[in-house]
Amino acid sequence: MIFTWLSFSNGKILVVKASSCRSGVCGTCKKRKLEGEVKMEGYDPEVLEESDRQEGYILTCISYPVGRVVIDA
Ligand code: FES
Repeated sequence: MIFTWLSFSNGKILVVKASSCRSGVCGTCKKRKLEGEVKMEGYDPEVLEESDRQEGYILTCISYPVGRVVIDA
């Protein structure tokens, strides 16, 4: 069984499937950020390319919100 959930843990946004990596290397948690800023570090650039970032996509498993953030989940 695969779960998807949204929660906050240690200030991180989590929108992940139970079978995903939660470390920025599989891309299953990629979501489009509609508003706000997040801090992301240590992800695989092949999973989240610069063009993805310019379109607002983030890897939620490694994203730390900086203030209010709205995600298209
Ligand atoms: S859960 Fe794998 S990149 Fe986020």
